[in-house]
Amino acid sequence: MSYKIKTLSGYFQEYQKSIDQPEKFWGHVAENFIWKKPWDKVLSWNFEGPDIRWFENAKLNLTENIFERNLVTHGEKTAIIWEPNDPSEEERRISYNELFALTCQFSNALELQGIQKGDRVIIYMPMVPEAAIAMLACARIGAVHSVVFAGFSSTALADRINDCNAKMVITSDGNFRGNKNIEVKAVVDEALKNTNSIEKVIVYQRTNVEVTMKTGRDLWWHEVIQNESKTHVAATLDAEDLLFILYTSGSTGKPKGVVHTTAGYMVYSHYSFSNVFQYTEEDVYWCTADVGWITGHSYIVYGPLLEGATTLMFEGVPTYPHPGRFWEIVDKYQVNQFYTAPTAIRALQAYGLEPLESYSLESLKVIGSVGEPINEEAWHWYHDNIGKGKCPLVDTWWQTETGGIMISPLAGITPNKPAHASLPLPGIQPIIVDAEGNELKGNNVEGNLCIKFPWPSILRTTYGDHKRCKETYFSTYPGFYFTGDGVKRDHDGYLRILGRVDDVINVSGHRMGTAEVENAINEHPKVIESAVVGFPHNIKGQGIYAYVICDMKDKSEGELIQEIKDTVRKIIGPIAKPDAVQIVPGLPKTRSGKIMRRILRKVASKDISNLGDISTLLNPEIVSQIISGAGLE
Ligand code: PRX
Repeated sequence: MSYKIKTLSGYFQEYQKSIDQPEKFWGHVAENFIWKKPWDKVLSWNFEGPDIRWFENAKLNLTENIFERNLVTHGEKTAIIWEPNDPSEEERRISYNELFALTCQFSNALELQGIQKGDRVIIYMPMVPEAAIAMLACARIGAVHSVVFAGFSSTALADRINDCNAKMVITSDGNFRGNKNIEVKAVVDEALKNTNSIEKVIVYQRTNVEVTMKTGRDLWWHEVIQNESKTHVAATLDAEDLLFILYTSGSTGKPKGVVHTTAGYMVYSHYSFSNVFQYTEEDVYWCTADVGWITGHSYIVYGPLLEGATTLMFEGVPTYPHPGRFWEIVDKYQVNQFYTAPTAIRALQAYGLEPLESYSLESLKVIGSVGEPINEEAWHWYHDNIGKGKCPLVDTWWQTETGGIMISPLAGITPNKPAHASLPLPGIQPIIVDAEGNELKGNNVEGNLCIKFPWPSILRTTYGDHKRCKETYFSTYPGFYFTGDGVKRDHDGYLRILGRVDDVINVSGHRMGTAEVENAINEHPKVIESAVVGFPHNIKGQGIYAYVICDMKDKSEGELIQEIKDTVRKIIGPIAKPDAVQIVPGLPKTRSGKIMRRILRKVASKDISNLGDISTLLNPEIVSQIISGAGLE
């Protein structure tokens, strides 16, 4: 395990090697995998295209590196522990041998249903092992999966299906979440009314809710695998063949399909998992994310399974049936590494310490955080009460586009500093730039976070629109990948992520584009114009505040506000529902017609002490009307 860092000096040495000789460094790391054909060149790249190729011309199959590589030593080891939503239902433990058989069976079924290498397959499923099996089966046959979070609406699902021209949807009848029983298949049926590329829908039976099965299109999971063999010869894929597309929000337009390819993603998701969490052979690892997000891809499924780890999947929510549920699960399975989001920590913190009293949490060795900046108070609560002051806390900064953790302490190796993601992983070259793109060197500097050199799991493109990829990530500061985040390097050289500097709002660790929410609001027939901003929220990190100009005829303000919230819920999903909607007579605009969001952000944050110069506005009088409408006068 020559890739595993054990000490701080070891980290600094590896880091230096990765900067001095990146190709040699990653070539060495990649030797831990099995390749059907070795690469000709470790890396070819330019950020102008961008055109980035890792392990050029190598041939492989990622799932052979999960199964064939590990089965000799790990066959009977538990690969996935599944904890159901309802604690009285029985858990599942799936060994590597069993997971392999299930993956092969489903791979054969997919092929029989006409799925071929390169076809796009949408996975819209609850948190059940079959979601992971569907992903792995796609990877096994060379199909490209695109997992869509099962909380997204039928419209959002249809948009994603259409954007990647998907051929199949894999879904379930329903989804148990907390005390809800969500009808998942019905959402798919609704979505498919507005798509025409889907040929087959495979439905996993989870809740036994009644569903309509369309003859010739819809098939039951248990039926399609029934006669399939439990062995399957893995497809031979090129290093740069697409592994998956994952849609994420940006500051403009519709969500974009971030593309990750096979070899680089495999190498980096595994390397980062292994080093950040310091997983050791007998550990039980639990990441509470959903497989619908990148965290679920890299750190529930791919990273841990490539390591041969035992990964826990939880179907439910942190507060059901009681607010001690997470801690009950930690004790039940003796979880060693626990990885969650600040929003969950803050939500549980609000219940006080009582829900913790019945649990020892003694098994925990490492605790982690991801998805948004963790405030110092939440950091300390998590560290003291969950980590009992003895577990290293890894605050991991990364993005859908980066594929894996970029800046983070390595557990037990990098000294912890509250609310600091701290230092880059080997191979990651972050720089801080000012607004003009000048690099700010040295300590005690603050600016925008860019990365100046490729790493194996960097996004390759945005699906179907390479120009958009270039414009979004590689044009703001030519020659660098721009993250969209602000960052500070402190006096010790440790990095602290300050949050988004663009029009992206981070709600409970979920990325929402302001334009996307505005477009949804504008679908309401009474809405004339809207502007959406983020504001600080105690639990969610940021909340969504919408200013809306409406035609007020025939409806009360209360009715309109409710309808606007419902419209967003219907078009995007519950996660995008605005926390506050304010009906306004106008929006503050510059003379060129641009909405001055700075003012709107201030009002939404209830901070009107310093609104700056508003005299250049086209309509300065609107500001006081908005302030009084917000009840701030
Ligand atoms: O703003 C950063 C924030 O989440 C954004 C990426 O969101 P997404 O692609 O949905 O991926 C989330 C899970 C990796 C980043 O641009 N973010 C993520 N992790 C952190 C964070 N902000 C501060 N600290 C973190 N640890």
